[in-house]
Amino acid sequence: MKLFVILGVFLMAVDAYPSDNLLLPDPLKSAEGMVISSSEQWQAVRRAEILELFRTHVYGRTPVGRPTDLRFETKEITPTALSGSATLKLVNIRYSGAGGEGMIELSVFIPNAVPKPVPGFLLICNRSRENIDHTRENKSPFWPVEWIIERGYVAAAFLNADVDPDKDDGFQDGVHGIFDSKNVPRSPDAWGTIAAWAWGASRVMDYLETDEDVDATRMAAIGHSRGGKTALWCGAEDQRFSMAISNNSGCTGAAIARRKQGESIEAINRRFPHWFCANYKEYNDKEDELPVDQHELVALMAPRLVYVASATEDNWADPMGEFLACVHATPVYSLFGLTGLNTDEMPKPEHPLHDGHIGYHLRTGGHGLTEYDWNCYMDFADKHWK
Ligand code: GCU
Repeated sequence: MKLFVILGVFLMAVDAYPSDNLLLPDPLKSAEGMVISSSEQWQAVRRAEILELFRTHVYGRTPVGRPTDLRFETKEITPTALSGSATLKLVNIRYSGAGGEGMIELSVFIPNAVPKPVPGFLLICNRSRENIDHTRENKSPFWPVEWIIERGYVAAAFLNADVDPDKDDGFQDGVHGIFDSKNVPRSPDAWGTIAAWAWGASRVMDYLETDEDVDATRMAAIGHSRGGKTALWCGAEDQRFSMAISNNSGCTGAAIARRKQGESIEAINRRFPHWFCANYKEYNDKEDELPVDQHELVALMAPRLVYVASATEDNWADPMGEFLACVHATPVYSLFGLTGLNTDEMPKPEHPLHDGHIGYHLRTGGHGLTEYDWNCYMDFADKHWK
């Protein structure tokens, strides 16, 4: 909502959010001060600048793309999964580097009654393996496969720990141990664990592009909390994902750091020193000095689809900060002639915003990925993909 305030002879538009009197880095001004006024300038100049800033100061630089020996081993194909409504594929994605070998166990359910190839959702699972149980003995709202299949989408999932265990071990295990050079000291912009998980999602995309039942041009990377931070970074780094979904991602996910609400940069670096690059620690209690803020991470998805969801009781993730990141990413979508968010007023709980290329909802309740959230994501996909 804009309030018009008469100041002397000037009429000023002021954002009427209690704490949105923030000075945010301008996604539409280049490092050299050029005003970015077209989608071509965004793509050619500004997008790359912002991506580099996030690599250098926040998530770190990923030293390896697709490993030359990447291979996909289909372990099992069950054409009659879920009482015949889906085909289940279990695929081991293997790779190696100087420090050893790694493997991602991928599960992909494809609806049988839908013309191929089928679009869908890749869940970056940051919870235990039971949450993505392909036998479906354990059914978790975290990954409601039956429901996703019924709605006609691919349900794919992998465990983040396959790529890199979530612990502060000096970057010895997981893909850091496999690909980082042992002979040179770790650089301050070397990749952290969130970037490692995002890299893993890209290796899954490498596989999905080979699966003729899957429409890899319409796949969303989705994650909750630390997984949501990962989904956004993955979408920024890998433009093959046509949507990124951030569920309650909070600090260094969708939430604007400069608001200093909920989890701070200092708090996240102290408790999870392995998630981001060493440079990020320079911004502990110095949010205003960070050369980027999280609305620019959301903006890196343009002109693709992006969805941010918050929960009313999830103050640690700063719901208002997550919403405002969408508001402040919207001008970048406008360059493409697209609507990002179609309002700058925070919606009431259970009133999702689905009309623009940025989706947003606020759910009643606490931190979590629920069936309500999934339903919203599929409604948004129905609207934009079908
Ligand atoms: C912690 C952390 C958050 C993170 C969350 C999660 O609460 O502080 O940044 O999003 O864990 O991943 O569940």
